[in-house]
Amino acid sequence: MTSLRWSTRLAFYLAAMGSALGLGNIWRFPFIVADNGGGAFVWLYLLMVFVVGMPLLIGELLLGKVTGSAIVPALKKLDHREVNPYALTEEPNRGGIRVWAASYLAITSCVLVLSYYSVISGWVLHFLFRLTVGLVSERGFDPEESLLVLMDKSWLQVLLTSAHLFIVAYFVGQRLHEGFERWIGKIVPLYFVFLVLLASQALSMQGASDALRFFLYPNFANLTWDSLGKTIGHVCFTLSVGFGMMVTFGSYVKDTTSVPVAGFRIAIFDSLVSLFVGMIVFPLMYVSSAQAYGPPLLFQTVPSLLVKMGGGEWLNLIFFLCLYLAALGASVGLMETAVANWRESKHVSHNKATKLMVGLCLVVGLFPALSTGVFGHVRFGDLGLLEIWDSLVVHWLLPVSALVISQVVVHKVDKSVQKQEFDVTQNSSVARLYRHWRWMMTYLVPGLIICGLLLQVFAR
Ligand code: PHE
Repeated sequence: MTSLRWSTRLAFYLAAMGSALGLGNIWRFPFIVADNGGGAFVWLYLLMVFVVGMPLLIGELLLGKVTGSAIVPALKKLDHREVNPYALTEEPNRGGIRVWAASYLAITSCVLVLSYYSVISGWVLHFLFRLTVGLVSERGFDPEESLLVLMDKSWLQVLLTSAHLFIVAYFVGQRLHEGFERWIGKIVPLYFVFLVLLASQALSMQGASDALRFFLYPNFANLTWDSLGKTIGHVCFTLSVGFGMMVTFGSYVKDTTSVPVAGFRIAIFDSLVSLFVGMIVFPLMYVSSAQAYGPPLLFQTVPSLLVKMGGGEWLNLIFFLCLYLAALGASVGLMETAVANWRESKHVSHNKATKLMVGLCLVVGLFPALSTGVFGHVRFGDLGLLEIWDSLVVHWLLPVSALVISQVVVHKVDKSVQKQEFDVTQNSSVARLYRHWRWMMTYLVPGLIICGLLLQVFAR
């Protein structure tokens, strides 16, 4: 149980938005849109944000707020009368299969995501390093060469991944994550303004209208049957649901903060960021002749354009610095969630849990880090190991984990307690939404997730 409360509602919003914002919006969104045919995928994604992501996000925040805990102790408390007035026991229960499944799914999702998230964060670190060297030396910065060097050298990728994980371990081990999350929250508005400015630059380039057509025109013929599962997975990833992390955030909010309003605002903000990133990357992709798809897309497009603009190296430096901070904020949140869950489930010290989780991420992270080197031959169709990893975790594991957490919220938190959270603002339109939210969480969200998973198996 934590006694921490955000000092202001704004501080909570900024920190929660800061942790939702990350590589998912800036690195992953453009390449899955490019790989899945553009506009139609974007519209499906936006729809899924509102019908799947937002209800789940509200559910996780609500669970955290009413229990005042992170996910594992929250689940243990669910039979307690404070949360459920009709529960039979007054004591928190000791768990059971539900607690066990949800906590292990949350921990596994955190470790598997963090281990490849760290590889990409390492790429960002590499670009930051080359940009800084470029600024102080005479050779300047060559974006294409920087990417080639990275793809060519396995040891470099392992080194960068480990460096990133050690930075994350420092923040979590020293328990600096809370201050850091607040601090990241403060740079979020600045980063947003920077992205909007870059988007307006990119949209003024020749060919931007073709790029916009690709990005926003819904040509549904481009969708495949497995698109539903892919969008749902990405929505969970980008809104950080299915990890139990938003449960922790919910436990920090003040009693007067409305969870449905918070969920709505975070989802809108996160989608807006992704849309602006698309408006930067796609015009650039259309101008550059490079056939850019898959994970390197962002690194192939953005730096080369910025380099051509006046003061491009500085702009690149700001872009990658902000991107790194966003990735670091998300990684710290993921590591903290894994550590807190492990600590609570196994009753071990914070230090021990941190060491174990970092060690685990380092070992597991070797596989995606070596995906262009030693494991270069591991392929499944067109996909390399990094893409297979990304797809297994994001398109499969996260939706399953989100499904389990959602069912716990709907069925184990008492209805009157749930309803109360929709009455906090005393605004009748928010209060009326309760019925719809409950219906969505009971039928629509699980139905769509299960359909998405089945379609990925049977209709590829
Ligand atoms: N939502 C983050 C992103 O878009 C990823 C993340 C997932 C961060 C889960 C924390 C927890 O990059």
